[in-house]
Amino acid sequence: MLIGKEQRGFKMRELRVQTKSRPYSVFVGIDLLTQLPSLLLRHEVQTKQKLFLVTDSHVYPLYANDILGSLQAAGYDVHIAVIPAGEKSKSLETLDQLYSDAINAGLDRSSVVLALGGGVVGDVAGFFAASFMRGIPFVQIPTTLLAHDSSIGGKVGINHKLGKNYMGAFHQPLFVLFDVKLLASLPERELVSGFAEVVKHAFIWDKQFVAWLEENNKALMQRDLPILEEAIYQGCKVKISVVSDDERENGIRAILNYGHTIGHALESVSEYQFYTHGEAISIGMVGAAMLSVDVLDAPSNLIQDTETLLRKFSLPIRIENNWSDEALLQVMKRDKKAKQGNYTFVLSEEVGKTQVVNGIPEVKIREVLQKLKRGG
Ligand SMILES: NC(=O)c1ccc[n+]([C@@H]2O[C@H](COP(=O)([O-])OP(=O)(O)OC[C@H]3O[C@@H](n4cnc5c(N)ncnc54)[C@H](O)[C@@H]3O)[C@@H](O)[C@H]2O)c1
Ligand SMILES: [Zn+2]
Repeated sequence: MLIGKEQRGFKMRELRVQTKSRPYSVFVGIDLLTQLPSLLLRHEVQTKQKLFLVTDSHVYPLYANDILGSLQAAGYDVHIAVIPAGEKSKSLETLDQLYSDAINAGLDRSSVVLALGGGVVGDVAGFFAASFMRGIPFVQIPTTLLAHDSSIGGKVGINHKLGKNYMGAFHQPLFVLFDVKLLASLPERELVSGFAEVVKHAFIWDKQFVAWLEENNKALMQRDLPILEEAIYQGCKVKISVVSDDERENGIRAILNYGHTIGHALESVSEYQFYTHGEAISIGMVGAAMLSVDVLDAPSNLIQDTETLLRKFSLPIRIENNWSDEALLQVMKRDKKAKQGNYTFVLSEEVGKTQVVNGIPEVKIREVLQKLKRGG
């Protein structure tokens, strides 16, 4: 299933996402940005349709000019909106600014949004596209490793001051264009954070992918582009398999939250200042593995295998600060996936076999938190 570097003779690989609302393609490859104008035309976006390129203040100086040049050369009329880099931009204020920019630029129902950036840009530009004039098409052009996850599946949204992702929509992109070359400029910590979601996709779905990540860990950390491309391709494949079955998160899609219950709690108690998303869910996956051994009788090596792989990617596996169990449990209780006040976790029977488990007793979670804090 997984292919080696020497066997590949292609430049762009295409995956199809089947959703009830509309199927679409995910293109993965190296140096793909140059293909953007022709892919737009292939998706029937005509040059008379205005393009609204949304990006952030870090990505803009790196890539916007090249994209702008190639789109303009192809005859497109492009308007650019640059939002401040960082999670704070997933806000009503940013959205309001985007509406103003769009109206001033004369965007209409036929206009198309291009979201160039990480998960933050994808989420906020996607929500803008979902709501502007009751919904206009958008294209996801992810620039972070983590965004191989966030750009697929159609979940878009912004944060409220009382919590993350409270306002949002399901709005599937016209297509996703992942140019792996863009990861060359990604800060190390963001790259590492993205590996947590790659590892998650492997653990919830595919034993062979876990083994492949072990083998290719060094090349991945050194940003060997063809190997990175393979990891992204496989990660996208898992995400697509899950969301194609369950577009609106009624059932199987919830397994994508593996590691996220404790992860979200850590992000929340540290006010999104201490851990990146990937770092938090890395610790969360170790917690989920511990709970899986306890509650589902998963093989005990699941914990060690999880820790070993995450450590190889320089991801944290223990809670460094002494946040109180009470504060962490409080957030877990509020988790949107929690039903009737019970603790709900995504747990693993073994690698590749994941399920949602409701009604987990608090005492078991306290034990796990203690182990994660003690380093035991
Ligand atoms: N919609 C979904 O299904 C989904 C899934 C997972 C996560 N998310 C969301 O994604 C967000 C996190 O995404 P993220 O980790 O990509 O964060 P991000 O978008 O904030 O990007 C991380 C940092 O890297 C910078 N950056 C991005 N691309 C770069 C590049 N190529 N070179 C140099 N710098 C670059 C950004 O400016 C930012 O400073 C969170 O808000 C999370 O809620 C959404
Ligand atoms: Zn995540």
